Amino acid sequence: MKNHLILGATSAIAQAYCRMHAGEDTRFWLIGRNQSRLDAVAADLLTRGAASATVRTCVNGDYAGLEAALGDGFRALQAFDVFLAAQGTLPDHAACENDARLTAEVMQVNTIEVMQAALFVAKRFESRRAGSCVIIGSVAGDRGRRSNYIYGASKAALDTFCEGLRQRLLPAVQVLLVKPGPVDSPMTALLAKTALFTTPEKVAADISAAIRRRSATIYSPGHWRVIMFLIRLLPRQIVKRLQA
Ligand SMILES: NC(=O)c1ccc[n+]([C@@H]2O[C@H](COP(=O)([O-])OP(=O)(O)OC[C@H]3O[C@@H](n4cnc5c(N)ncnc54)[C@H](OP(=O)(O)O)[C@@H]3O)[C@@H](O)[C@H]2O)c1
Repeated sequence: MKNHLILGATSAIAQAYCRMHAGEDTRFWLIGRNQSRLDAVAADLLTRGAASATVRTCVNGDYAGLEAALGDGFRALQAFDVFLAAQGTLPDHAACENDARLTAEVMQVNTIEVMQAALFVAKRFESRRAGSCVIIGSVAGDRGRRSNYIYGASKAALDTFCEGLRQRLLPAVQVLLVKPGPVDSPMTALLAKTALFTTPEKVAADISAAIRRRSATIYSPGHWRVIMFLIRLLPRQIVKRLQA
């Protein structure tokens, strides 16, 4: 029996991950912002053999509400084996550049609430000396780009956060940062698809393998590790002239 706590449970990547584990008599605690979409995810997991799938909604910026949704999960299921933070938004970058409230919302959704939930979970994993804390970052967090540096900054913060949290929780608790390249999901519905795009199922499979291996950071698909290594080697003098 494995218990999974998911933040952003309606995410295509999270759903693919949950579906992959639903046949294992698993219990799910699903948190998100949309009741009917969460209900549909829960119903799907139950038909695939999950032992239970419970839904909690949470409004953006309601810290007490998020903690209540998390706390209810720990009270009901006692302990979780995996916490997966999949909540995230890819904003209209130009709009964010002109409206601090939109930028604040990106940081709220992608960074602050993810950190808040991870810190809540960390305390409980720490006292049980077990658990995997899985956070979805992005390759966009590895280097600033003209076209998406606000989204990138929200993900870069998760990198530093995970590094420190990992030091706090190791060796008993795993802190895994997942850095996908572009994924064909609702988040990228408006983007033209290129050969660089992967599927939610591929990212979900990479997450499952990384939990088994107790990895610290993975790129998904794996070739992004090489691509981002080379991109990070580019001197700042060259990077500052790039326009993409
Ligand atoms: N897709 C990519 O190319 C890509 C690449 C790298 C990293 N990622 C990261 O992977 C994670 C999962 O993304 P995905 O590809 O599975 O996309 P997705 O299917 O669009 O899922 C995004 C999730 O975030 C939730 N969300 C969006 N805006 C929100 C808001 N304002 N407040 C609360 N929740 C909000 C969505 O809830 P609703 O269902 O209610 O909208 C959904 O659960 C995200 O952290 C994303 O940044 C994605």
